[in-house]
Amino acid sequence: MDSINNPQLYLERMSKPLQEKLKIARFLPESGVKKILDVGCADGTVTLALADMYPEVDLVGIDLSGEFVKIAQDRIGERKNVRFEKGFLRERLANPERFDVVLFCSVLHEFYSYGEGISTIVKALADAHEILNPGGTLIIRDMILYNYASQSPLWVKKMREKVIAKEGILPLLTDFESYFGRADSTKNLNHFLLKYLYADNWEREGRENYVPVSFEEYDQILGLLGMQVLFQRSSTIPYLKSKWQADFDLTEAELESFRSTGIIVAEKLGKR
Ligand SMILES: C[S@@+](CC[C@H](N)C(=O)[O-])C[C@H]1O[C@@H](n2cnc3c(N)ncnc32)[C@H](O)[C@@H]1O
Repeated sequence: MDSINNPQLYLERMSKPLQEKLKIARFLPESGVKKILDVGCADGTVTLALADMYPEVDLVGIDLSGEFVKIAQDRIGERKNVRFEKGFLRERLANPERFDVVLFCSVLHEFYSYGEGISTIVKALADAHEILNPGGTLIIRDMILYNYASQSPLWVKKMREKVIAKEGILPLLTDFESYFGRADSTKNLNHFLLKYLYADNWEREGRENYVPVSFEEYDQILGLLGMQVLFQRSSTIPYLKSKWQADFDLTEAELESFRSTGIIVAEKLGKR
């Protein structure tokens, strides 16, 4: 991912919501976890925090970006239970090392945008399935929306007008709509609300599909892989909801079905 124009800004933005991201720790199995693979670890912020929370567990972080992996390696310090490697998930299939947990934190939407769309996601999940020990746990945290989440179409139309009323937003919305279609459905307007925040890096972020795979589609993919979905959660980071209300004068009721974050936990069949 060396095309990231401003790596410093990108990494700062990634590591800011660390406490929010660490909620994934609640979904780690209670016992039997010896090894965790963190796919798309960037500068290792989440991996290192997990390594500190679970000193008895070995963590491996992988990322495509050599620059990020180097930063992550330099941050290991005295820790003995963590290592970072540059590379594709796929390359690990030839390696006999297997894991009790595979984690995709804020990363699968990038696989989609910078890979080959849905086939890259399907392959990544299939690879994760193969790399897990029997009974192992897959955890996905990303921006995930429901296909069928629906606010009243009339309300969404009104909400879009409120969004347009904000000074300076129209060029971003027009550009967004040229990629993703008119933001007059709950899902599309929700997608835009997740995206306008990144106006400072719009050239890269504008085109990225933040919500390429819905909860329903993840269910289908994981079902085909024979994995059992144990848990799904769709939530809105409170800070974001307040920002949407403040920026666009949107009400609590209007934002009722708008979300920012999804978590999916699935288990590979077999005995751990
Ligand atoms: C948005 S960052 C997330 C970083 C970290 N997981 C976190 O939550 O803070 C996404 C990372 O995924 C990496 N990435 C994107 N596609 C990848 C792929 N196919 N294989 C491995 N890493 C990938 C990028 O280099 C980037 O560092």
